[in-house]
Amino acid sequence: MSNKSAENSDWLEKQQSASRRTKWWIIGGLTLAAIAIIIGVAVGVTVSKHKNNNLSSSSSGGGGGSSGSGSTAGYVAIPGSAGVVKANPKDPSQFEKDPRLIRSFYGFAYTPLNVQMPSCGAVQANVTEDIQLLSQLTNRIRLYGADCNQSALVLEAIKQTKVDMKVFLAIYVDGTNATYTRQKAEIKQVLIDYGTDFILGFSVGNEYMLNSVGDGSVTGAAGVAAATYLGSLIADFRAMLASMNLKNVPPVGTADAGAYFNVQLLDYLDYGMSNVHPWFGNVSINDAAAWTYDFFNETNLAMSAQTTTNPTWYIAETGWPTKSSSAAAANDGPSIASIPNLQIFLDTFICQSNTNGTKYFFFEYFDEAWKDVLYGGVEGWWGIFDGNKNLKPGITIPNCPISS
Ligand SMILES: *[C@@H]1O[C@H](CO)[C@@H](O)[C@H](O)[C@H]1NC(C)=O
Ligand SMILES: *[C@@H]1O[C@H](CO)[C@@H](O)[C@H](O)[C@H]1NC(C)=O
Ligand SMILES: *[C@@H]1O[C@H](CO)[C@@H](O)[C@H](O)[C@H]1NC(C)=O
Ligand SMILES: *[C@@H]1O[C@H](CO)[C@@H](O)[C@H](O)[C@H]1NC(C)=O
Ligand SMILES: *[C@@H]1O[C@H](CO)[C@@H](O)[C@H](O)[C@H]1NC(C)=O
Ligand SMILES: *[C@@H]1O[C@H](CO)[C@@H](O)[C@H](O)[C@H]1NC(C)=O
Repeated sequence: MSNKSAENSDWLEKQQSASRRTKWWIIGGLTLAAIAIIIGVAVGVTVSKHKNNNLSSSSSGGGGGSSGSGSTAGYVAIPGSAGVVKANPKDPSQFEKDPRLIRSFYGFAYTPLNVQMPSCGAVQANVTEDIQLLSQLTNRIRLYGADCNQSALVLEAIKQTKVDMKVFLAIYVDGTNATYTRQKAEIKQVLIDYGTDFILGFSVGNEYMLNSVGDGSVTGAAGVAAATYLGSLIADFRAMLASMNLKNVPPVGTADAGAYFNVQLLDYLDYGMSNVHPWFGNVSINDAAAWTYDFFNETNLAMSAQTTTNPTWYIAETGWPTKSSSAAAANDGPSIASIPNLQIFLDTFICQSNTNGTKYFFFEYFDEAWKDVLYGGVEGWWGIFDGNKNLKPGITIPNCPISS
């Protein structure tokens, strides 16, 4: 109890006379009325200010959220983030836009920093900053797994930033039930906490078929067994969704290397997400966009015709690396890792695919140092941004804004 309210209760105890009490009731009533008027004015001002903010952000075609009417005074880097985005410290929906970024991408592949077991360590400040940046490039992202609280961190970031963004959540499948069950529990909890408003779907498995079949045939026994296992997890996941009384049930699918789907797998899916990488296709940059389109069409879209489910198809990953950690891996035949080549791929693939309705997730948002440590070569260097979230020098974002 503060000193002031202690004084007030002392004072109240002394007020025994009914007439004096009445007088104070009247004064109190007038005071309350005055307070109500002040609050009413303040609310009116705030609401109309919000309207102005909404108008200014929608007319600028930005990523949702609001940067105010140009005033960014008092905006600061979020403590714990990379410090690239300046925002209102009390309201992450008010943040400074980067004029070089344009919402031209159908979607982006996104792995937050530090979501690998067992170390984990991902923090809200960094994920929120990522969502502020990604929302200036696209309105869709896809994750690869659910470990280390990443689903909640992403949904919380979308909620706080109020940006126009939805996400495909995911469960990384390694063939052991425990890995699946752990992530299934994480997703169940975020469905309870956040509902399905920001969720586009659930990918059960990332490159599980590739990892299971390797050099073998995806149509052989190992491919069929891998599809059957994934199918059992997908059925289990659907059963969990059905038990939750959700107001809408998002689709369930899987992501894999483009050549590693088989018809047995497709029959379990609402959607397939296919990695189509021209860099690994041994094609020159000038042929990369057309090769990507043709591979996806001939390998994935064509296979749907043989199924009963006719799943929706997305390119799960496509992009181009900007460098290699070893000279030996700097090229794959005529495919050469470089920033100018990433720019050519952006210029020949993005707007063309938007126009012809190819659904793709660009690979990727930022460079991932952990992959460089683990795999070397070009693996860590596919970002539009570097590992510190700076747009790579020399990169110009194509100008063909998506409609929501
Ligand atoms: C936040 O992101 C920056 C830049 O990517 C990184 O250096 C920093 O370690 C991150 N913090 C955590 C806790 O992950
Ligand atoms: C996961 O992230 C959410 C959103 O920031 C947070 O509320 C929750 O406490 C986190 N859970 C754990 C176990 O860190
Ligand atoms: C886990 O593994 C067993 C077989 O070892 C299987 O019967 C069970 O259905 C599996 N799936 C799940 C989701 O627990
Ligand atoms: C769609 O765009 C790609 C480039 O990304 C192009 O190669 C392909 O021919 C286009 N397809 C159609 C049907 O226009
Ligand atoms: C897509 O592939 C089919 C064969 O499956 C082919 O008939 C069709 O011409 C292709 N479409 C384009 C635009 O290349
Ligand atoms: C890559 O393409 C070049 C020609 O562009 C060819 O000489 C080479 O054999 C190809 N390599 C592989 C592994 O397909």
